[in-house]
Amino acid sequence: MTQKVAILLSGGGSNMVALLDSMTGDNLARPALVLSNRADAGGLAKAAARGVPTEVVDHRPYGEDRGAFEDALHARIMEYAPDIICLAGFMRVLTEGFVARWQGRMINIHPSLLPKYRGLHTHARALDAGDAEAGCTVHEVTAALDDGPLLGQARVPILAEDTPETLAARVLVAEHQLYPAVLRRFAAGDRTQIHLP
Ligand code: GRF
Repeated sequence: MTQKVAILLSGGGSNMVALLDSMTGDNLARPALVLSNRADAGGLAKAAARGVPTEVVDHRPYGEDRGAFEDALHARIMEYAPDIICLAGFMRVLTEGFVARWQGRMINIHPSLLPKYRGLHTHARALDAGDAEAGCTVHEVTAALDDGPLLGQARVPILAEDTPETLAARVLVAEHQLYPAVLRRFAAGDRTQIHLP
């Protein structure tokens, strides 16, 4: 059965584009909505250009009241009745209340080999640690930041001359392969982990 997918982002949306491009043919996932907390997110125009409905729910009017923001977010998402939420560079920490509403139906991509380097600046931290490899992880979202059951990981080498920027670019290419592969499987009800390459 077709699974309607809402993608949440805050930035340029390259992962979102990779997901949209993958949702064709025998993939059970189909795009329903791309939503941002920022009206100036580059990803919104890319989604609109692909004929996908877009929405903005700005977090700023809600100030410290995360619950009120998330109620508005949830209500807007529900107008599209998605089955699955994909977080793709959505830069708001979600509270337990919101996560509970989407438990088992919300997935995220994080640019590190979790459980290493939860949070920000993952590439600089991998370089500082002298790691030989880096990568990305897709996981189910639980209330703990960048945690939850792993659905897939992709690994890339770290090169001697890498900077955080060159490493981020290499990991991003892997993200664009991993996230669509995991979503396709997840939409089919299969939570077997994917490991790339
Ligand atoms: C990606 O690195 C993703 O792993 C992280 O945020 C970034 C989003 O990039 N969560 P983009 O907007 O998909 O290009």
